[in-house]
Amino acid sequence: MDIAVVGSGYVGLVAGLCFAELGHRVTMVDNDPQKTAMLREGQLPIHEQFLPELMDRHRGSDRLTFTDSLAVALETAKVVFIAVGTPPKEDGEADLSYIEEVVRTIACCAKGYIVVVEKSTVPVLTHDWIRRVMTLNGRKREDFDVVSNPEFLREGTAVLDFLYPDRIVVGADTEISAQLVSKIYEPLTSGEYHKRKTAFPGPANAPTPSQLIVTSAKSAELIKHASNAFLATKISFINAVASICDAVGADVQEVCKGMGADVRIGNRFLNPGIGYGGSCFPKDLTAFRSVARECGYDFGLLDEVIRINDQQRQRYLRKVRQALWNLKGKHLAILGLTFKGGTDDIRESPALAVVRTLLEEGATVAAYDPAAMDRVRSEFGESIKYVANAYDACEDADALLILTDWAEFAELDLAKVGKALRYPIIVDGRNLYSLTKMREAGFQYYSVGRPSILPMHEHAGAAQSTK
Ligand code: UGA
Repeated sequence: MDIAVVGSGYVGLVAGLCFAELGHRVTMVDNDPQKTAMLREGQLPIHEQFLPELMDRHRGSDRLTFTDSLAVALETAKVVFIAVGTPPKEDGEADLSYIEEVVRTIACCAKGYIVVVEKSTVPVLTHDWIRRVMTLNGRKREDFDVVSNPEFLREGTAVLDFLYPDRIVVGADTEISAQLVSKIYEPLTSGEYHKRKTAFPGPANAPTPSQLIVTSAKSAELIKHASNAFLATKISFINAVASICDAVGADVQEVCKGMGADVRIGNRFLNPGIGYGGSCFPKDLTAFRSVARECGYDFGLLDEVIRINDQQRQRYLRKVRQALWNLKGKHLAILGLTFKGGTDDIRESPALAVVRTLLEEGATVAAYDPAAMDRVRSEFGESIKYVANAYDACEDADALLILTDWAEFAELDLAKVGKALRYPIIVDGRNLYSLTKMREAGFQYYSVGRPSILPMHEHAGAAQSTK
């Protein structure tokens, strides 16, 4: 099928390249000519597993073209996916002006019947607005349909999430548009893609063939916001439980194991830490709260989820102070700057929020991140010392702070870390190590919702209040 994907951000790029992988002819549209030129050369603006391979596979073939003109893409496209940004406004509502602009162009340039698909995360009833803009700009109602097809990919595992999804949601209000968009995903919903020799190998237990869920457009819009809000609630819930564990000296990891064994709860997304971040959860929660308010429902639960998340960083910082007393004048090793491991994205990164506070309180930091050093340098300048690896960060530092869950941070050579640090103190915001391992390695070890391993002269295993 001939498809246009508008917006070459995270969602647009991954979706466009994966549509090409499924066998469609895809035109990627971005109004930034510099970005388009870069993509045409095969350069990718984001760090994402398997994206370079997809680019190599399809660039230069008729399956993948790049343009900065939506009008050009609309000469052939039958379906156009809108994946432009919906950034938050001051009041938390999503700014949908980029979407409106794209829709106006579609209205004036599309040839014949066209399906307009919302791929960006948008508030419920956005499809109604898109319809209105289309008709106001001269399109007859029978010449187009609007479909909501939310994306559930996670950064770091985006390509495999797209090709091996838990579900594909198609929210359409007409039979023909539901069929057209469902057809695009047929290689996944029939399982044909997963059997190809050239298919990227999926994660263990990936559900194949992929499940297709067809709903109304408004239900699909709600599925996306409600899913992200629910996942964020799960994280804040376990972070709140971790605080109680801290207060009574229990181990949140054990609590998670016990809770997660109940299949109704499940053990995924139950990892406590320094709070969620990224370009989705923080923005989507405030947007969903605004949508609810506009619909006349006060979704107070979401306020609480957001409040717990904000407090989580403060709780972590209290642990750092508990370990080090004063921060002023201390030199700290920082591992991880992105909002989670496996990505170079630093948007709304809780790790960076922690670093900012440390600097404000007069500490100096030496930081290492496997993917985000350049991005952080452009934001923080030289206020941070950037180093080439974890051990260089530890060199002469008063303590090591682990802030993101990169896999390599869970496999450090602890003897080497101990030698490099000035004091054997680790404050782990992601619970990457077992208490036994840290005790054996001789560290004072502070983590989230687990008893701290204290210096010998202190009462080991005592309840640690972080209040
Ligand atoms: C999230 C959702 O997981 C995707 O399904 C969704 O498509 C995407 O938002 C989106 O709306 O575009 P993403 O932001 O890439 O994906 O990252 P997650 O893996 O969900 O992590 C979000 C944050 O929660 C990170 O800061 C992570 O460290 C934190 N987290 C996650 C925890 O603190 N504990 C957990 O157990 C899981």
